[in-house]
Amino acid sequence: MRLPNPLIVASVLLVTSSHALNILLNNDDGFGSGNLRELYRLLKGEGHTVWIVAPATKQSGQGGRSDFTTEANLTAPSQYDLIPAGEPSVGSDPNDSHIWYYNGTPAACTFVALDYVLPKFADFKVPDLVVTGPNYGTNLGPFVWTLSGTAGAAYAATHRSIPAIALSASNAEIPYYEIKNKTNPATWAAEVSLKVVNTFINSAPKGGPILPLGYGANVNMPTLTGNNKKLKYVQTRMTGNAHVNEAVLNATKGTFTWANIKPYAAGVNTCLNGDCSMPGETYVVENGGVSISLYTIDYTAPSTANTESIMKRLSKLATGK
Ligand SMILES: *[C@@H]1O[C@H](CO)[C@@H](O)[C@H](O)[C@H]1NC(C)=O
Ligand SMILES: *[C@@H]1O[C@H](CO)[C@@H](O)[C@H](O)[C@H]1NC(C)=O
Ligand SMILES: *[C@@H]1O[C@H](CO)[C@@H](O)[C@H](O)[C@H]1NC(C)=O
Ligand SMILES: *[C@@H]1O[C@H](CO)[C@@H](O)[C@H](O)[C@H]1NC(C)=O
Repeated sequence: MRLPNPLIVASVLLVTSSHALNILLNNDDGFGSGNLRELYRLLKGEGHTVWIVAPATKQSGQGGRSDFTTEANLTAPSQYDLIPAGEPSVGSDPNDSHIWYYNGTPAACTFVALDYVLPKFADFKVPDLVVTGPNYGTNLGPFVWTLSGTAGAAYAATHRSIPAIALSASNAEIPYYEIKNKTNPATWAAEVSLKVVNTFINSAPKGGPILPLGYGANVNMPTLTGNNKKLKYVQTRMTGNAHVNEAVLNATKGTFTWANIKPYAAGVNTCLNGDCSMPGETYVVENGGVSISLYTIDYTAPSTANTESIMKRLSKLATGK
């Protein structure tokens, strides 16, 4: 008997995955987030196998930082006191064996999920898709993209060859146990998230992954009112009306705070990649739409006349003359 060709086996797995997927959820708001738990509930309702591995505490603004705790046990209680101090730094929710916390940054949670939790405890080793969020608050534009933990958890997965979708909503924090009905902003954010994630899943090429290698998506939602049917979904680029910080000095106190610099900075809004005629994600969300931008993990400058001219200036170095 001939042994199955590993490539064929892999493609068969990908074909079946377009119906019931193995999905890993993560975020930066903490494993007790109402937004996260609502999306978990809805994705499971679609028949997917879903695992959460998310930070034990709030880890906003960590970007792609991969920080692993040096403590075997929690030195303080987890978010909302769900797990007491003294319990292991990585563990499952006593109420649901598919929900895990880890006391690290969002990107570290992605790695702990891929290298420990899923291979050891799940029926699959590699998820078909990693979904992060929906975050409390938007993550718009290239500047916020690099510092957002929701983004960091997603691009960590992209780096590890797994398709990823980062989701951010405009609602305020709500612990999962305070969600008592289905007409609240966390559930609405999860419903919009499900619609977008489902569209990625159901439109994926037969036998192919949800997204090509190196690609991911950044999805942002405006303030939702529950009337989700009227929402506009817009394909966007990351640049365009994007914000970047300025340092604002309080001379009385002698400290700085941040503000969005005005007018828009040209640097953060330079369109170098993608279709520059598409609207910016910041503009779309600030005007009530859902933005869907694609990202790639390749930061190399695109092949343009500017790039070639710079490389030409440096060519003497490369040829050693
Ligand atoms: C962590 O907690 C376990 C009990 O859950 C205990 O056996 C172990 O000694 C603790 N480790 C440290 C480093 O405190
Ligand atoms: C598990 O469920 C109980 C009862 O609803 C609740 O009091 C407790 O906080 C839950 N634990 C976690 C970790 O969510
Ligand atoms: C649903 O719960 C929210 C709080 O999460 C509350 O503000 C709202 O009034 C509730 N709606 C209904 C229809 O019970
Ligand atoms: C500057 O700091 C002082 C002292 O803390 C505070 O009272 C004041 O409101 C601050 N000013 C601004 C513009 O934030």
